[in-house]
Amino acid sequence: MYKLKEIADKVYYVGVNDRQKVLFENMWPLPYGVSYNSYLIIDEKTVLVDTVDVCYSDIFLKKIEDALGGRTLDYLIVNHMEPDHSGSIRLLRQLYPNVQIVGNKRTFDMLEGFHGINTGLLEVKDGETLNVGRHQLSFHLAPMVHWPEVMVTYDATDKILFSADAFGTYGALDGAVLDVDMNLDHYWDEMRRYYANIVGKYGNPVQKALQKLSGLEIKTICSTHGPVWTKYIPDVIKIYDQLSRYEGQDGVVIVYGSMYGNTEQMAEAIASSLAEHGVKNIVMHNVSKSHASYILKDIFKYKAVIIGCPTYSNQLYPEIDSLLQKIEVREVKNRLFGYFGSFSWAGAAVKRLAAFGEKMNWEVVGAPVEQKQGLKPDKYEACWELGKAMAERI
Ligand SMILES: Cc1cc2nc3c(=O)[nH]c(=O)nc-3n(C[C@H](O)[C@H](O)[C@H](O)COP(=O)(O)O)c2cc1C
Repeated sequence: MYKLKEIADKVYYVGVNDRQKVLFENMWPLPYGVSYNSYLIIDEKTVLVDTVDVCYSDIFLKKIEDALGGRTLDYLIVNHMEPDHSGSIRLLRQLYPNVQIVGNKRTFDMLEGFHGINTGLLEVKDGETLNVGRHQLSFHLAPMVHWPEVMVTYDATDKILFSADAFGTYGALDGAVLDVDMNLDHYWDEMRRYYANIVGKYGNPVQKALQKLSGLEIKTICSTHGPVWTKYIPDVIKIYDQLSRYEGQDGVVIVYGSMYGNTEQMAEAIASSLAEHGVKNIVMHNVSKSHASYILKDIFKYKAVIIGCPTYSNQLYPEIDSLLQKIEVREVKNRLFGYFGSFSWAGAAVKRLAAFGEKMNWEVVGAPVEQKQGLKPDKYEACWELGKAMAERI
């Protein structure tokens, strides 16, 4: 029944779209939905690469059954054990009891832990190969991209890289599967947001994986989320390379918290100054309105960050505190940092922002501005100077 997309000769897309989930990982908004990608190779042996979230197993299994056309499933390759990709393994095994599950030592530890499966396993080591007919598959460990068991599978015959979550994006597939067949506009920032939210901490492992894979000739990248990449592979690799090196583009993200508008006034003054001094890419986030998911995306995207915060019970404003914790977890490196804040009787926020910048080892640009109560001309001027200093530095 299904007219499945054939990505290469007898390699089919059998993934599903999730347009219902509101928050990925119960944390990150999904305005465009998300896809869980899975791929089926029909050869002398039949091979499935990864599964999908258990909520979509019914439709997923129907697609596989349809594509197999009465044949059985010989192998399931498990590149990644996160439940959005491993969720259907138990049901798949019930339907195809003889399927051999291909993974590495760490995969199998998780397979037992999540699904109680410990038989019918084919353990592979880094670089090992599996011949399934016309297709010659090899397995390459990519630990901590972004889980320890992650590996990628390379099809040397059709030069396809099944890359697990690497090169994935948020965003369901609205009809088309291949990058060349769709309007990609929203995927680029969704890729950055996915990276910043999910993979962000693991820049070094991503760099190692990129180097390791650089020797392979790759014509198609089949990630577990988002479009299948062909023509745009260089763009996708460039984005991942930049993000994992924490290399920001020219631009400034201003994030501020404000209850009554005084700190916000400072942010406005800094933004006007940045613009006046020639900065075009300025993104402002009111931390209480913008979801942290988007703020993190912009902090990964741009090289300069200016954070403003009122003092709250002798601490940072809680929403800013929470954001700083998320940045710290991701070990974001090499940012130009400006900061400012306000108080009414005993300031604490600016001191804490200074400590944060030091901890992150970020380069402080301009003089921090601390304002008591309402904005006065001298503090307005100081904000202007901070904006100017940042504009000159980037
Ligand atoms: C719940 C609450 C707690 C506050 N705690 C402090 C404090 O510990 N020390 C202080 O100097 N000001 C404190 N303030 C005052 C604010 O920091 C100050 O008015 C600041 O300028 C508010 O910035 P905003 O107008 O951008 O919200 C507090 C204000 C509120 C509403």
